[in-house]
Amino acid sequence: MILPILKFPDKRLRTKANKVETVDNEIKTMVKNMFETMYASDGIGLAATQVDQHLRVVVMDVPDSGGDYQLLLKNRENKRSKPLAEKHPLCFINPMITQKDGKETHSEGCLSIPGYYAEVERFNHIVIEALDENGKTFTLEAHNLLAVCIQHELDHLQGILFVDYLSKLKQKRLLEKIKKSDKS
Ligand code: NI
Repeated sequence: MILPILKFPDKRLRTKANKVETVDNEIKTMVKNMFETMYASDGIGLAATQVDQHLRVVVMDVPDSGGDYQLLLKNRENKRSKPLAEKHPLCFINPMITQKDGKETHSEGCLSIPGYYAEVERFNHIVIEALDENGKTFTLEAHNLLAVCIQHELDHLQGILFVDYLSKLKQKRLLEKIKKSDKS
């Protein structure tokens, strides 16, 4: 099922997500719907917050630009080796960044702010721990675009949007642009 995506400046995007207590069927259905919604919108990441579900769940499918994926897969049975298949869906439940370093500026966009892109500085190397869609713990080491995307999506779970990092002037211009296009 394709879910409606909240659009900036909707206040619900500012909601802090809660921890998932159990990865039950309800959560699994939500994950499935989130993937469907993300693929239907040609997105590379989607946080539950964006579909008005305030739980710590993120889905992602970032193209592998080579070496971005270094799955440590500590507790996963099927060890995936590089290169990954064309589609590499990743689901993070209760994600936590345990290591971060390096800086990189990347142009970012967001399904909640369609048609708008801006440069944001992020860590370019992170290690993240999370549960997968089956409730199993895994650790992922991510670089470059994948690392950037994870930080962007985890921000959503805290009610933070990438435009929050821009200057007040740029934020004001964006709001004016949105107001104008809403009128037309
Ligand atoms: Ni986003």
